[in-house]
Amino acid sequence: MSEQIIVEIDAAISTVQMNRADKKNALTSDMYDRMTEALEAGENDGGVRAHLFLGSDGVFTAGNDIKDFLAIASGGNHGGNAVRFLKRLVTVKKPVVAGVDGLAIGIGTTMLLHCDLVYASPRSLFKTPFLDLGLLPEAASSLVAPRVLGQQRAFELLCLGEGFSAERALAAGLINAIVSEEAVADHARDMARRIAGKPPEAMAQARALLRGDTAEILERIDRESSLFAERLKSDEARQAFETFLARK
Ligand code: COA
Repeated sequence: MSEQIIVEIDAAISTVQMNRADKKNALTSDMYDRMTEALEAGENDGGVRAHLFLGSDGVFTAGNDIKDFLAIASGGNHGGNAVRFLKRLVTVKKPVVAGVDGLAIGIGTTMLLHCDLVYASPRSLFKTPFLDLGLLPEAASSLVAPRVLGQQRAFELLCLGEGFSAERALAAGLINAIVSEEAVADHARDMARRIAGKPPEAMAQARALLRGDTAEILERIDRESSLFAERLKSDEARQAFETFLARK
C-alpha cells in the first residue's frame, strides 16, 4: 500500500501530502498521527523554514474519515488524534502554506484557518457539513472563522454547511489567490520558498505577533472537542454516518 501521508523535506520546505485519493483523502487516525509527526519533525529540523500542505489531483481532503467517526462513536477509538494534530498545527512556530486543488471538506477547510498562506485552484470547494452530520464546528473554527470571514459568512459556512467556491473563498479572505489546477501546488511551494528566503528569527517573531493569543485558540479547541465528542455519540450523528456509509 502506498503511503497515505507523504512527507518530504527539500530546499527548506517540509511538504506534507495527503495521498489517499481513492477515498478522497479522507483522514484516518493514523493519517492525523503522521501529519502531527511531520509537523513535529519540521519544527525540530533546523534546516526547515516552512511547512507545506498539499492534497492530490482534484482533492485536498474530504475531511475526517466517516468510518473512523463511527468507530469513535462506538467507543472503538478514542479520537484524540485529530485534536493532537490541530493543536500542533496551531502551535508550530514556522509558517504554514497550503495548496488546495478540489474538495476541502470539514477539517480540510477549518485547518486552512491556521495556515499563513493558502492558494486554491478554480475547481476548489470549501465546505463544512458539520451540522448536517449532527456535529459541531471544530479546529477552533467557531472562534477563528468569524474573525477571518465575519460573523455572517462564518455562520453560512459553519452552520448552514454552505459550500464556498474558490472565488467566494477569495472574496471572503479564506484564501490568498486562485491559481490554475496545474500550477497551484508549484505556486504554493514557490511561496513557501519565498518565506524560506526571509530571516527566520524575524519571520517567527512577526508571525507570532500576527497570530496573537494561541492559548485562547487551544482553549477553544478543547471546548469544541469535548462537545464534539458528545455529538459523535448522538443519534443524529450516528444516523448521518450510517446514511453516508450505506448510500451506494
Ligand atoms: N470518510 C470516509 N470515506 C469517504 C469520505 C469520508 N469523509 N469521503 C469520501 N469517502 C470515500 C467514499 O466512501 C468512496 O469510497 P468507496 O469508493 O469505497 O465507496 C470514495 O471515498 C469516493 O467517494 P465518493 O462519494 O464515491 O465520491 P464523490 O465524488 O461522489 O463524492 C464527496 C465526494 C467528498 C462529496 C463525498 O464522498 C462526501 O460527501 N464525503 C463525505 C464528506 C464529509 O462529510 N466529511 C466529513 C466532514 S466533517
